[in-house]
Amino acid sequence: MKIVMLGAPGAGKGTQAKMIASKYQIPHISTGDIFRANIKNGTELGKKAKSYMDQGLLVPDELTVDLVIDRLANDDCKNGYILDGFPRTIPQAEALDAALAKLGEKMDYAIDVDVPDENIVSRMSGRRACTGCGATYHIVYNPSKKGDCCEVCGEKLILRDDDKPETVQKRLNVYHEQTQPLIDYYTKQGILKAVDGTQDMNDVFTAITNILGA
Ligand code: AP5
Repeated sequence: MKIVMLGAPGAGKGTQAKMIASKYQIPHISTGDIFRANIKNGTELGKKAKSYMDQGLLVPDELTVDLVIDRLANDDCKNGYILDGFPRTIPQAEALDAALAKLGEKMDYAIDVDVPDENIVSRMSGRRACTGCGATYHIVYNPSKKGDCCEVCGEKLILRDDDKPETVQKRLNVYHEQTQPLIDYYTKQGILKAVDGTQDMNDVFTAITNILGA
């Protein structure tokens, strides 16, 4: 099963992608997580990506597409995968489709987690991310049982640099301009499924599993 997660920044794509990956035993591939790991490790890619991410801009397609296509060639992707944060532009979606077509494959589902802009800013200011393993929490909706430390690895939880309100607004503008057109793109392919992302996160998950099947 090959799935693309769509939705505004903070819509809950990562939260749902982790749950789906665990239920269906497929890898969760998040370009945001890959870039943040590169930033943490001080790689050249990380330095380049950070300059865009801190401004709320997209990392250029030429730094992003090959990274994902190469990742999909790994053995663990043989039975499918869930893409979280990729594609984010029409050229990225076309490059993905072209790479799949060479293998005689195509995406099965594009799931749009729909949350209006007005809910996003408050969600993002409450998100806390683990500096160690990347797990995410929310101070109200999904607090860590270990306070400001991660339940999984014990590392410190932080507010991401790009979750500050002024950067979130910029990310939302970029989303509407560059990523939202993918909803039409996947609607035309007949694989778009929308879920109401304002529900409790377990109800969102139930809506998605109803689409994907047991
Ligand atoms: P990325 O990390 O992908 O960020 P994003 O798409 O903006 O998404 P987020 O991770 O912010 O949110 P999410 O939808 O996963 O929400 P979450 O589940 O955490 O990308 C970061 C940056 O990297 C980009 O801005 C860009 O610069 C760059 N980048 C990445 N991919 C790229 C690409 N392909 N091309 C170019 N550049 C790229 O949930 C949010 C919060 O809400 C959490 O606290 C969570 O606990 C809570 N929550 C979740 N669900 C619910 C619910 N149902 N009810 C209440 N709270 C909830």
